[in-house]
Amino acid sequence: MNTPPAFVRRAALFAVLTASPLVSSPSYADADFDAMVKKLQGEKPQFAKRQQDLLKERYDLSDKPADGVTMPRGKAVQGGVRVKLPEGATWDKLAAMTPEEIKSQDLWPAGFYPLPHPHHEAGGMIFPKKQIDGVKEQTGRDLTRFDLDFDLPDHMLPEFPAPIYLNTRPDLGDVSQGKLITLGNFYDVFKNVLNPKQLEGLRLLVTPFPQAQFNATHDRKALLAHQGVACFDCHSNGHTNAATHTVGDIRPNEHRHRIGTPTLRGMNITNTFGSQRAMKTVEDFTEFEQRAAYFDGDPEQATRKGVNILERGSQVHFMAEFENILGFPPAPKLTPLGKLDPSKATKQELRGQELFFGKAQCSVCHSGPYFTDGLMHDLQVERFFKEKMINGRKASADGPIKTFPLRGIKDSPPYLHDDRLMTLDDTVEFFNLVLALKLTTEEKADLTAFLRTL
Ligand code: HEC
Ligand code: HEC
Repeated sequence: MNTPPAFVRRAALFAVLTASPLVSSPSYADADFDAMVKKLQGEKPQFAKRQQDLLKERYDLSDKPADGVTMPRGKAVQGGVRVKLPEGATWDKLAAMTPEEIKSQDLWPAGFYPLPHPHHEAGGMIFPKKQIDGVKEQTGRDLTRFDLDFDLPDHMLPEFPAPIYLNTRPDLGDVSQGKLITLGNFYDVFKNVLNPKQLEGLRLLVTPFPQAQFNATHDRKALLAHQGVACFDCHSNGHTNAATHTVGDIRPNEHRHRIGTPTLRGMNITNTFGSQRAMKTVEDFTEFEQRAAYFDGDPEQATRKGVNILERGSQVHFMAEFENILGFPPAPKLTPLGKLDPSKATKQELRGQELFFGKAQCSVCHSGPYFTDGLMHDLQVERFFKEKMINGRKASADGPIKTFPLRGIKDSPPYLHDDRLMTLDDTVEFFNLVLALKLTTEEKADLTAFLRTL
């Protein structure tokens, strides 16, 4: 007798199963999912506490705004050095020591080590609460993970919703209307300032697509089957909300960097994309995000969870066109050459500028009117410490990282590729040691004042 081929039999069995009332009762897979949710929810407080304890050991996270400076829509810029000193050390004492001495005496400040992901072993995308609330309110989509919450307090994060500046319409200033731009409102807000092609690009940037932690399979970290994540869930309003994940490029997991979302402002002057990936066009990076970064660099997982392959000519280019017109915020004290206008700047800011281009040597890498050389540099921070495990992250050499532009820098805390530094004052203290600059206390304050004008 002829038996049907195996695939036909499987298809028939599948048809019977899906038609039968049996499938509405929990399958083994459902039981597994529920058990996983319960287990990870049970472990959640312990990992959250581990991360909060680490943050407390590394930083002063209190809400202490700097005087006389805000982000464009009024959010306070946090001031002061927030990285804590090891016992008995002072910043001047550390600056007088060699990297070898700091390393052998274990004096590298805890906050200058690589910062682990909120739960490094679990990894994956994780969003600040305001983003979760905003998206839920407008679109009903819930970006909550059942196993994990974002770790840094809101006052340390960029303005939310962030203003949006378009290179094509500088006359309008902020075009966001003070709204978080989502699929729910992008058309209303932008129909009169974008052409249809750019509008379609923006639509794709606010449309959710499946991703490793947010998808419709049981291998996900959302309670309900999920549509996925939109580009602007992290690069919210074309800027950043400090959403984070672990980089897809590195293995094993303990070596993977936490990566804080970079702003998309200034994509037009960027020529190396990603902190280490060094892609050469915004089109390449846009395509790569959804194909690879969304799935932790694992094509097999991407296939299983529903990768959305963007079409290069009609979709990627449209998205890139919109990304490329996202401008830096206005810097009213800077001339077209990217130098302070002496009639507008304070004496302190002018002293800071002189340091930036002189003794502090910042301009060796942060050059030109956007304060970047468009290259990557190895700061060799590992000279200062012995390798060690920090909450699942192996602190070791980071390798070369791209020189992020410093235009608009006060508006995109926290700093460095892994968000390890909370304030600009911290970055000055960091570079003072890394570059052996021996700046005085006054010089450090001057330099910070200059950075806030950019
Ligand atoms: C988890 C939140 C998240 C989502 C969602 C996300 N990104 Fe990113 N994006 C990042 C992070 C983090 C980086 C830095 C990557 C690195 O350092 O390698 C980045 C880098 C980029 C860059 C390069 C920026 C630079 O300065 O080098 C571009 C362009 C970009 N993303 C576009 C997109 C697009 C387009 C999408 C949607 C398809 C998207 N991103 C979705 C977090 C996100
Ligand atoms: C040798 C090149 C080099 C020099 C010199 C240099 N930087 Fe940087 N800068 C970098 C690199 C590379 C990064 C990114 C490092 C990372 O993310 O780990 C960076 C990052 C930064 C950031 C954070 C940017 C962001 O978006 O998070 C600030 C602020 C900064 N530098 C300020 C300065 C100041 C101030 C000086 C001078 C005291 C300086 N830099 C000197 C290469 C340099």
